[in-house]
Amino acid sequence: MAVIAKQCPEYKVIVVDINDDRIQAWKSDDLPIYEPGLQEVVEEARGRNLFFSTDVAAGIQEADIIFVSVNTPTKTFGKGAGRAADLQYWERTARDILKHSNGNKIVVEKSTVPVRTAEAMGRILNSGAGAHRFEVLSNPEFLAEGTGIRDLMEPDRVLIGGQSTPEGQAAVEELVRIYEHWIPRERILTTSVWSSELSKLVANAFLAQRISSINSVSAICEASQADVTEVSRAVGMDSRIGPKFLNASIGFGGSCFKKDILDLVYLCEHYGLPEVAEYWAQVVRINDYQKRRFVRRVVSNLFDTVVGKRIAVFGFAFKSNTGDTRESPAIDVCKQLAEERARVVVSDPRALGNARADLADLGSQIEYERDPYEAAAGSHAILVLTEWEIYRTLDYKRILASMEKPAYVFDGRNILDHEALHAIGFNVVPIGKAPLTSL
Ligand code: UDX
Repeated sequence: MAVIAKQCPEYKVIVVDINDDRIQAWKSDDLPIYEPGLQEVVEEARGRNLFFSTDVAAGIQEADIIFVSVNTPTKTFGKGAGRAADLQYWERTARDILKHSNGNKIVVEKSTVPVRTAEAMGRILNSGAGAHRFEVLSNPEFLAEGTGIRDLMEPDRVLIGGQSTPEGQAAVEELVRIYEHWIPRERILTTSVWSSELSKLVANAFLAQRISSINSVSAICEASQADVTEVSRAVGMDSRIGPKFLNASIGFGGSCFKKDILDLVYLCEHYGLPEVAEYWAQVVRINDYQKRRFVRRVVSNLFDTVVGKRIAVFGFAFKSNTGDTRESPAIDVCKQLAEERARVVVSDPRALGNARADLADLGSQIEYERDPYEAAAGSHAILVLTEWEIYRTLDYKRILASMEKPAYVFDGRNILDHEALHAIGFNVVPIGKAPLTSL
């Protein structure tokens, strides 16, 4: 919304939320989320045509177009628990819109939702006495965290789904006019509502599938002495496959991939397609397997026991340039190490607050230390779990001197210079390639 306000000064954008703390934070210098470049965008538009408020009713009344961006987590209860999307927040918002509207509105589904949600919402919204008309559009967001502003300024495509009726198509055109301020028309795709909803789930499923594919290959590489970086380069140079999203890792995290695949799986089951459901479910299973496999490799290299050993975790966020830890593979890795009774020290430039909350159950078994040098001191091993740039440039000689020997680095992201680390005396265990060990 901040980018829309920045790019379209003649539109007035009001962001409303029931959470007062968040709204106050959006009005302050300390925004509630960290995203490179966001502060500047917000500051440019805030007070000019971008406003933040907790008055949801007034926001609804004033708006011609309402973007609904409430969360749609995986259901934890009842039918479809653990797989289907929990749509209670979406439905509540739809009912709020119905209650407070005093004219016709375009309602834009920005949250990622299961296919046919817009249809259900349209039915709720248009169920009243018929005084006002609501057109529901699907406009899924494809930005990735850490590169959000760039992805919004220069998206590969913008997708807008609408009904084929004249009213539906007029609503689609309203939304196209907003994006046309800065995005070439040929990159704005218009489809049916269902195709648009499904495309978002499928795009995330394809991206996650690439990671699970290369991670499954990393297991073969470790078993057979091939090098996953070489394999991924050779495969990615095929222009039909392409080089992106082929970095082997400890597994994907983030708020979207797992949730959206589970949603897709549920949808397949709902439509009586168990083979298709099974195909996509395997992407999540390989991801869990990869995390377990990594911990097993750590324990087996550390002489089959980590009991009482200090282990430094470098990076807890699910990816670099964010403090977000939702579904971060580091959560499972730390929990499994704690089960093995290791003493884990978590370090991260942005995510320590979230890490503390995620690992609260483990109490004093986990330490938190912002400074990576302090975290590594006295440890038997360093585990690189997030690809933060700073970890490439640390003084590893100094780190090695402060560690227990033999000292190990497990590079869960393959970002370090393994030869150089080995040359100064580390035992290095990467993902998907032979370890460089000498004890
Ligand atoms: C993703 C989609 O990319 C985005 O289009 C969608 O709108 C939201 O979900 P995001 O979750 O922010 O974005 O991060 P992304 O960059 O896709 O990374 C997801 C996870 O995959 C991270 O844990 C990342 O470290 C991991 N990853 C990514 C790999 O392990 N290997 C890769 O090659 C790429």
